[in-house]
Amino acid sequence: MNLFERVSIKKTELKTRLVLPPMATAKSTPEGYASDALCDYYEKRAAGGKIGLIITEHSFVSKRGKASANQMSMASDDVIPGLRKLTETIHKYDTKVIAQINHAGSATMSAVTGSAIISASAVLNPGRKAGLADEIPGVMTAEQIRAAEKEFADAAVRVKKAGFDGVEIHSAHGYLLNQFYSPLTNKRTDEYGAGSLENRLRIHKEILQQVREAVGEDYLIAVRFGGCDYMEGGSTIEEAAEAAKLLERYGADLLDISGGMCRFDRPGHKEAGYFSDLSKAVKDQVSVPVIVTGGIRTVEEANDLLEKEKADLIGVGRPFMKNPNWGN
Ligand SMILES: Cc1cc2nc3c(=O)[nH]c(=O)nc-3n(C[C@H](O)[C@H](O)[C@H](O)COP(=O)(O)O)c2cc1C
Repeated sequence: MNLFERVSIKKTELKTRLVLPPMATAKSTPEGYASDALCDYYEKRAAGGKIGLIITEHSFVSKRGKASANQMSMASDDVIPGLRKLTETIHKYDTKVIAQINHAGSATMSAVTGSAIISASAVLNPGRKAGLADEIPGVMTAEQIRAAEKEFADAAVRVKKAGFDGVEIHSAHGYLLNQFYSPLTNKRTDEYGAGSLENRLRIHKEILQQVREAVGEDYLIAVRFGGCDYMEGGSTIEEAAEAAKLLERYGADLLDISGGMCRFDRPGHKEAGYFSDLSKAVKDQVSVPVIVTGGIRTVEEANDLLEKEKADLIGVGRPFMKNPNWGN
């Protein structure tokens, strides 16, 4: 495998295996509409010419799931025209684009959401960023779980209407779905509880099913999977390999591997592909393509990971944030 060769995911053909991973820019308007500055940011990176797939930054599926100010919104139909302009701009460069959709759960503040924060359990989020208020979330009721699932499905429909090539469900970096997956934040005893991997992934299963029903068989659905917390008592690599098989069975077409409660950095690790032990464990178990991101800074490092079959696609984030022409 080589970084600059064409590759197909389902029916979507990418011109390279190079991915711009989702990175929040806070360039949307205060309401969450795509701004000219946001379009310009993505256009500059697509125009760099080498990116096969852009995954746009996390967008909130509902006000209650909003993570931060000036975050992109996928929460109402009126965002669609602005996003259509964004996808048309990126497509001019023969670059594919999928949208990441997210619910922050307890990784936010009521000052941002305008209502009490909620999560799988009443546990302080261990992955919360410095500066977030120490708010203990309310435990989600069955009705609130159903509502959040519908919000994901409704957001996925907007993603499709806006012309994106696919949708990515965010289950990493300590956000809501990760809170259900991680034993550090899921202390439930019901069917969504910590008792088994199937229970910890039940909300994922239900969301994947509802999203699939809403967008159709051919549409690309990715999951950004925070496979391991790298924290005592947290989710493990061994579990990630099993969980990945379930996510594939539930309908994921692409697994985008990153960290869990440790977020996108891995404590004590700076090497190229610092999540590649995790992506390799997942890739060995699934037949859908796998992305690895984290610390990759040269084409040689990317190709080395591909040759060692640690992943099928390579995400390069912060270098592109600093330099839109990194790919050249
Ligand atoms: C400023 C910033 C914002 C980010 N926002 C998101 C996001 O919205 N969704 C997500 O899944 N990851 C997000 N990430 C994580 C990146 O996708 C990526 O995993 C991380 O930067 C590690 O890759 P790198 O070493 O190539 O930068 C963000 C990272 C940074 C630096």
